[in-house]
Amino acid sequence: MKLIHAKDYRDMSRKAANVVSAQVILKESSVLGLATGSTPIGTYQQLIEWHKKGDVSFANAVTVNLDEYCALPASHEQSYLSFMNANFFDHIDLRRENAHLPNGMAKSYEAECEAYDALIAALGGIDLQLLGIGPNGHIGFNEPDEQFVMGTHRARLSDATRLANARFFGGSAENVPEFAITMGIRHIMQAKRILLIANGAQKLDVINRALNGPVTPRLPASILQLHPDLTVIVSA
Ligand code: PGA
Repeated sequence: MKLIHAKDYRDMSRKAANVVSAQVILKESSVLGLATGSTPIGTYQQLIEWHKKGDVSFANAVTVNLDEYCALPASHEQSYLSFMNANFFDHIDLRRENAHLPNGMAKSYEAECEAYDALIAALGGIDLQLLGIGPNGHIGFNEPDEQFVMGTHRARLSDATRLANARFFGGSAENVPEFAITMGIRHIMQAKRILLIANGAQKLDVINRALNGPVTPRLPASILQLHPDLTVIVSA
């Protein structure tokens, strides 16, 4: 594991963007696993800036996002598709047909989860997975549990997660969807490289427990200790 201490959010974002852009420069057809949340916004902004300068292209890349809320129309401004469009996809040359998120409005969640796992497998797996971390140690929406869930699945969001995301839903945790479809631990851990980013002093404790404590599904990010190519960038 490589642990990098960034000076501040901007520095963290720049360093993370360097890892992502190096990945697609060295392998144009990279499969990038992408994340939503507040943390990666600066990374996406930096990548957009470099793309506009002509330094990096996503024309041959494929992306798979970690997760999507259930029962929230894709057109809702807080859907993760809307987030990705607004914060990244609308500003780069990624081909829309190459940008994948789970469909949170699927009639059969089971079929959707199977199809998402099959898609990632058919793509040959993920080259670089970008991750944030929740205050409860979740990655994607793999929430603290009795066991790690390997496949893409429908997850019930924990109270802590709904509270943490209330700021995007008018300040009320009750307005945050109860369920999401999330990539499971298998495809995250099978990614060739993982880049975990965390911003702010409030994330230091969970990062410390995830990287240095026991590996346990009670703190899903702790499994990342077992990954052979993990880079962690923290700013605090
Ligand atoms: P944040 O969320 O980037 O908004 O802190 C991270 C996460 O929940 O994975």
